[in-house]
Amino acid sequence: MGEKMTTASQNIPVRLAGRRYALSIGCGHTPSLGKTFKQADWGNLAIVLTNPTIRSKAARQVMASFKKARVATQLLTVPDTERSKSMSSLSRLLNQLAGSVGPGMRPVLVLVGGGVIGDLGGLAAGLYKRGIPYIQVPTTLLAQVDSSIGGKTAVDLPQGKNLVGLILQPKYVHCDTAFLKTLPERQFRSGLVEAFKSAIIGDTQLFGLLERRSVEQIRKSPSDLRTIVSRAARVKVKVVELDEFETKGIRMKLNLGHTFGHALEAAVNYSSVYTHGEAVAIGTVVATRIARSLKLISAGEADRIVVGLDQLGFPIRVGRKIKRTVLYDAMSKDKKWTSGAHRWVLPRRVGQVVVKDGVPVRMVRQAIESVME
Ligand code: NAD
Ligand code: GLY
Repeated sequence: MGEKMTTASQNIPVRLAGRRYALSIGCGHTPSLGKTFKQADWGNLAIVLTNPTIRSKAARQVMASFKKARVATQLLTVPDTERSKSMSSLSRLLNQLAGSVGPGMRPVLVLVGGGVIGDLGGLAAGLYKRGIPYIQVPTTLLAQVDSSIGGKTAVDLPQGKNLVGLILQPKYVHCDTAFLKTLPERQFRSGLVEAFKSAIIGDTQLFGLLERRSVEQIRKSPSDLRTIVSRAARVKVKVVELDEFETKGIRMKLNLGHTFGHALEAAVNYSSVYTHGEAVAIGTVVATRIARSLKLISAGEADRIVVGLDQLGFPIRVGRKIKRTVLYDAMSKDKKWTSGAHRWVLPRRVGQVVVKDGVPVRMVRQAIESVME
């Protein structure tokens, strides 16, 4: 599908070896989704997966759009919690799919929700009958700029997050920024951190926009929101196109801020003490300080990143007592760390990051200590 600009929505193509799909980014264009589905002929049964929080919001609009286009639908829900990304939820969902799909039906899973719904549903789509098509309809900012793009699907195991999964691309991503109106403030901020991260990875103009705005201004401006979502999505699309299966060391760049961020989330047992985005914000400060110690980044650019995070109201310090032993233990379980490579994604300047091996432990500790209260 080619790139198209209309007043209503904008299509960003994702070009992969032998396949392509589109991200449709708009504000209030959900009534057209059923028609798009029908015209593309992805299937003849839309199985909408959502959770009880989103059912009466975005999912209702999605169902109405399918109804208007005379597409047969079914609605499935899972509880609104990260625990829905579990083997037991996956097994229940696969059983429900087997019960929902009659002979002659060509089912398509339509995943209406945040990263939890997208990750669980994408994996179920990959496994049911050795694979059925799926569509992402992201309803959180994090899902719109990150998790709905690129085909990573997963559930968690007691041993760790995202340990069982597939890389399987959706047929289509329908991204309606109007859904974000009902998103709680903290979730919105958390998603904005991922957009900030994308700006550091590859978009100086997006960074400039984020530097000039407050979170409140962004929330109130549909045009800013659309610009931010589409520019951040383009950064991710570009990276995924270059390294779909994360074998070339390029997709890893998307993990900026995540090495320390994941450790912080694990150290608080993935509780609400830190959202993913808040942990990534502090992790980005750690990565920036390491980059500065290695003289990879100038003092001015490093300040821009930390000040930018701070001005948007993201945390830049670990604001409560967390045992160093627990934190360093969680860090030591990180794949990039235990591989012996001591590998970090580090900013060189706003708009460019590098993957660096052999980062001295001493510098990592110094950077971590700089964010501890
Ligand atoms: P989430 O899916 O748990 O959603 C956050 C909360 O917002 C939930 O309570 C949800 O019900 C609610 N919500 C969603 N949309 C809403 C709306 N429009 N209005 C009101 N409430 C709404 O969390 P998330 O931050 O979207 O995703 C986190 C998950 O994504 C994690 O499991 C993480 O591992 C995964 N993830 C995956 C990728 C990937 O590439 N696949 C990338 C990043 C994160
Ligand atoms: N969220 C990281 C990735 O998609 O690779």
